Amino acid sequence: SKLEMFVDELPEMPRLRGYKVRNGVPAAGNLTIGMYEKTWKFHRDLPHSRVFAFGTSKETATVPGPTIEALQGVPTHVTWTNHLPSRHILPWDPTLPAPRPPAGGVPTVVHLHGGVHPSHSDGHSLAWFTSSFSSTGPTWSRPTSSYPNSQTPGSLWYHDHAMALTRVNLLAGLFGAYSLLAPHLESPLRLPSSPRFDLPLVVFDRSFLSDGSIYMNSTGNNPKIHPQWQPEYFGDAIIVNGKAWPFLAVRRRRYRFRIINASNARFFRFFFTNGLHFVHVASDSVYLPRPVTSKKFLLAPSEIADVIVDFAQSPTDSAILANDAPYPYPSGDLTDEINGRVMKFVIGRRREADPSRIPKRLFKYPAPAVHRAATTRYISMYEYESTTGEPTHLYLNGMSFLQPATETPREGSSEVWHVINLTDDNHPLHIHLAVFVVLEQRELVDQDGFKNCMMRLNDAIKCRVGDHARGRRYSVPRYERGWKNVFKMRPGCVTRILVRFKPLGPETKFPFNATEEPGYVYHCHAVRWWLPPQT
Ligand code: C2O
Repeated sequence: SKLEMFVDELPEMPRLRGYKVRNGVPAAGNLTIGMYEKTWKFHRDLPHSRVFAFGTSKETATVPGPTIEALQGVPTHVTWTNHLPSRHILPWDPTLPAPRPPAGGVPTVVHLHGGVHPSHSDGHSLAWFTSSFSSTGPTWSRPTSSYPNSQTPGSLWYHDHAMALTRVNLLAGLFGAYSLLAPHLESPLRLPSSPRFDLPLVVFDRSFLSDGSIYMNSTGNNPKIHPQWQPEYFGDAIIVNGKAWPFLAVRRRRYRFRIINASNARFFRFFFTNGLHFVHVASDSVYLPRPVTSKKFLLAPSEIADVIVDFAQSPTDSAILANDAPYPYPSGDLTDEINGRVMKFVIGRRREADPSRIPKRLFKYPAPAVHRAATTRYISMYEYESTTGEPTHLYLNGMSFLQPATETPREGSSEVWHVINLTDDNHPLHIHLAVFVVLEQRELVDQDGFKNCMMRLNDAIKCRVGDHARGRRYSVPRYERGWKNVFKMRPGCVTRILVRFKPLGPETKFPFNATEEPGYVYHCHAVRWWLPPQT
């Protein structure tokens, strides 16, 4: 039986203030946010589903979790607590190096995605903890994460980041939005800003069994290679803020939507069925220099599009937010009817007075200073294959996460990275702490020759990457030409990025020690897993 679309109203997630106000002066905020097992109704006609949810109590916990609103320059300290049961609600992979706490429990750790904060608060994958902190991972050091919020204003999100469990912990519901606001800088822009008109839309896909439970295939695409896994998760229902294909009644005026792709592997190419357009004001966590209009845009897992939609321009009284990205992206078949629809906006008839506007200019941040880059690095992604040619696992530069750190950038510097994607899939590359600008994306010529060389030598320079990176150029869309923390590494291409290990403001250093252990990671954000090499 198919679920009827557009029957549930878009929920508004609870908002938590990440700061206090004392005598009109903002001061650091302390929050305690727990992870609870509870039930959640994803659709009117679906029974309750068991989920893991963030909240200040079990009763108020939601999927996605509450939206944290932080103030620029005012630190937010969050004590993330784990109240999860002894066993996971989803099948996790025992062949991966997942933590196995002796007393059981579900290991979790929270990463603030896009956050500029000390390493001890970065949600390192091995800094996991279980219920009541009864077991903790080797890099765990404290129960409270501190976010200085000294970075530029913008949209972030928080999500689980535990070793080999991120995939199932996210599927269970452990993520939420985080908005960093700077009213003194942002209000002169006059973008829609009241909570009614400035909303996070957290979009993800899930499948359900008829009893309501979240369905995750655990029999394996190819049992000859692995009994359990499929490399990617695709659900057949599209969920926004915790409801499948919801609707939202809107006024005939401008809205700001911070659209977060919280899927494990699904890319979305969003558009409106009635021709309404988007005006992008930021990409991931950073404002663009000027607004950019688009009719359609691609959003990879973990990317954020921060857009203004003006419903006063709508020719019709309803607009469907739709998606036509194939899955897996880009090699899969075209999307079908079901996940081609995301949500519906029901637009008021009367035109409203709208005090908001879209300014000509937004924020000016430093341009990428390529000539001053301290180092050039080559990062390659390729699939290892079994003797029968089946993909088995994927490493960055031929190394696993558990090997010692390889990249040691200097604080205050910028670097040029050439990211070489020799797989068939698009990989959303995410870098912690830093921001980057995409300089160029170019197809490799004689890909097979290059790949063969890389399989032998694992050295991009010896394999003459420069001679191969001479194919077709793909231009970066204008709404993604600012500073980002995720970008889509197109298959068969070298993507050149300028990575900045320095705040975007005038400061040359981060306002905390960024050089401590266990450091920061970069990774593909399609939450997928590959097998250990076969012996
Ligand atoms: Cu959004 Cu390392 O994660």
